[in-house]
Order: sequence, then structure tokens, then C-alpha cells
Amino acid sequence: MSKKALITGITGQDGSYLTEFLLKKKYKVHGLVRRVALEDKSHRLWRLRHVLNKITLHPGSLESYASLVKLIQKIKPDEVYHLGAQSYVDYSFKDEFSTLNTNMNGTHYILSALKEFLPSARFYFAGSSEMFGKVREVPQTEKTPFYPRSVYGISKVAGYDLTRNYREAYNMYCCSGILFNHESPRRGFEFVTRKITHAVARIKFGIQKDLKLGNIDAKRDWGHAKDYVEAMWLMLNKKKPEDYVISTGKQYSVRDFVKLAFSLVDLDYKKYVKIDKKLYRPSEVKSLLGDCRKAKRELKWKQKYTFKKLVEDMVKSDLDFVKKQGY
Ligand code: NAP
Ligand code: GDD
Repeated sequence: MSKKALITGITGQDGSYLTEFLLKKKYKVHGLVRRVALEDKSHRLWRLRHVLNKITLHPGSLESYASLVKLIQKIKPDEVYHLGAQSYVDYSFKDEFSTLNTNMNGTHYILSALKEFLPSARFYFAGSSEMFGKVREVPQTEKTPFYPRSVYGISKVAGYDLTRNYREAYNMYCCSGILFNHESPRRGFEFVTRKITHAVARIKFGIQKDLKLGNIDAKRDWGHAKDYVEAMWLMLNKKKPEDYVISTGKQYSVRDFVKLAFSLVDLDYKKYVKIDKKLYRPSEVKSLLGDCRKAKRELKWKQKYTFKKLVEDMVKSDLDFVKKQGY
């Protein structure tokens, strides 16, 4: 019999790639979505358009314990991938309370509902390299202490601790992936990589003059989302639940990303990029670099995309996007 998976955050970048991955593995895929998404399918479900007839979407809310209990009782999933979150770090400085509420309580409600009604289900929590924040060591491993620098990071540390505590206290199969930044043509437009590749295409087609950015000396360990969703599944399909760092082990600055993206369309980024101090964060995470040797060894996880292939994929896709949509 096919396994059943429940994905929160199914409409997002990772949710959509994970859906494709699980469908290929013959899972029955269920997703929790906000009611507004079902009312505005053409906009809010754009990443899932091509698989909508193969999955089941359920309206619900991460803010409501009762709605999560109902969903878990109805679906009885074998695996729960909890990806739903207010995921934009910069926004968490502007709306601290709802970020903490959604990200921390949402995680707690699901864990608690599983404990009461379906303790056999396997649970994945979308942890983040933002938990390392002002990094205590380089590179960061599963043992590196956390030092979050935003309410987003704090909410993820809380989710990570809740997940670990449910595993230890109630003997449930719960684990966290500590995923470093991962991008793709399906990345939201507010994140720096997509902001850059979309602007590159618009500038190339003459519909945008320049690109305003904040701290382009920030460094990240950037992978491709397609590679990273596979690691989530591997974590839920082991003998024992454990937490894993997922990263590439290579670091580039935002400036490196910009330079490469512009060069792919034969433009010099220096002519177009303007630094806007308003885009700097109140407390920045300056540098992230992951050590994923544990995942390589124990999960046999391998990434296929290099940094160059990732940037090429995103630029090419945004050239097609702007050509077709005209914006
Ligand atoms: P994303 O594209 O921003 O997707 C976030 C998802 O969460 C969307 O489906 C969104 O639904 C949903 N969501 C947000 N607020 C919600 C709420 N109040 N109730 C229900 N659903 C809500 O994020 P992503 O890049 O796919 O990331 C997936 C997860 O991994 C997130 O938890 C993120 O924090 C974490 N993470 C991401 C990265 C990365 O580099 N991408 C790295 C580490 C960890 P709507 O479509 O309705 O807004
Ligand atoms: N978004 C954005 N916009 N970031 C900018 C800009 C800009 O105009 N200019 C410079 N940056 C810098 C930010 O200050 C940050 O240092 C870096 O670019 C990356 O920013 P984001 O793309 O917004 O991602 P993030 O690293 O803050 O967070 C992402 O990765 C985390 C994992 O480390 C998100 O996907 C989080 O959800 C995820 O947990």
C-alpha cells in the first residue's frame, strides 16, 4: 500500500519540489494550505499547478491546534513534513510576534497533536542554518551551538528544541534537518537570489534600470532546493531519528552571486547594482558555512547542483519568465 505524507507549507518552494519527489516514490501526498490559497489558485498555487490533480489539499491553519488535530485524524499520515513557516528573515524584524507564533506554536501544535492521536507518524522539522546566526565555529556542524540573530532564527531554535524533546520524552520518530540556504527558479521574489536573477532578466530586457541591494558582502552556503528535499525524505526513512546538517560546504558572497548572474547575460553588475542602506538588517548573519559530512556518511546524501549550475538555472528560468510574462 502507498505511504501517505502530509506536507505543511506545500505551496512553497520546498513543498512543491518535495511533492514531486514523493509522487515519484508513489506516495499519496496531502497538503495543508491556507484557505485563501484555495480561493486564489492561479496565483497562490503556481508552484503546484502541474501536479494539482495528483494531490489532496486541505484548508487549515498552523495557528489552530484544533484544525491540525482534525487533519491528522482524517489523513493518518505515515510521514509529516512540517515546512510551513514565515520564512523570510527580514520580515521577522517587522512582524516579530506573528513570526514567532506561526513558527513556534505551529510546530508545537503539530507535535502535540501527533503525540495524542498518531504517535507512530514520522515527523520532519524544517530547521535552518539561521539558528547558527553569529556563528560560534566554522564550519557549522550538528554540534555547533546556536546563536540566532532574528526572531525567525529564535523561532527555528524553539522548533528544533521542541522536536528533539518530543523524540526524547515520548520516543517518537522526530527529526530536524538543519538546512543551509537553498534556492531554485521557484524561490520567492523577496529572497536575495531570486531578487537578483529576476532583476538581471528585467534589466536585460530593458524594463528595469538598476538593482538595489543591502549587504552584498554577506556570505552563504547556497545549494539547490531539488537536492535538499531528497535529504528530508532520507531523514524520515532511516532506522533511528537524528538531526542532520544539509549544505554544500562551499561559500560565496551575495556579490559573487550578483557578479555571476549578470555575467551570464554579458552585463557588468557594477553598472547596475546600487547599495541601499535601508536594506541592511538590524542584526545580520554575516557568514554561514555548513559541514554535512554526517549526512553524506549516514544518509548517503549527495548534491547534484554546483553553485554555477544553480545560478545558471535561475537566470535561464527568469529570462524565460520575463519574456513570457513581460514583467
Ligand atoms: P517558502 O517558499 O517561503 O514557503 C513557506 C510555506 O509556508 C508556504 O507554503 C506558506 O504558505 C507556508 N506558510 C507560511 N505561513 C503560514 C501560516 N501562517 N499557516 C500555514 N502555512 C504558512 O519557504 P521554503 O523556502 O519552501 O522553506 C520551507 C521551510 O524550510 C520553511 O520552514 C523555511 O523556514 C525552512 N528553511 C528554508 C531554507 C531555504 O533556504 N529555503 C533553509 C532552511 C530552512 P503560503 O503559500 O500560503 O504563504
Ligand atoms: N532578501 C534580501 N534582499 N537579502 C539581501 C539583500 C536584499 O536586497 N541585499 C543583501 N541581502 C543579504 C541579506 O542581508 C542576507 O545576508 C543574504 O543576502 C541572504 O538573504 P535572504 O536571501 O533573504 O536569505 P536568508 O539567508 O536571510 O534566509 C534564507 O536562508 C535561511 C537559511 O540560512 C531563508 O530561506 C530562511 O528561511 C532560511 O532559514
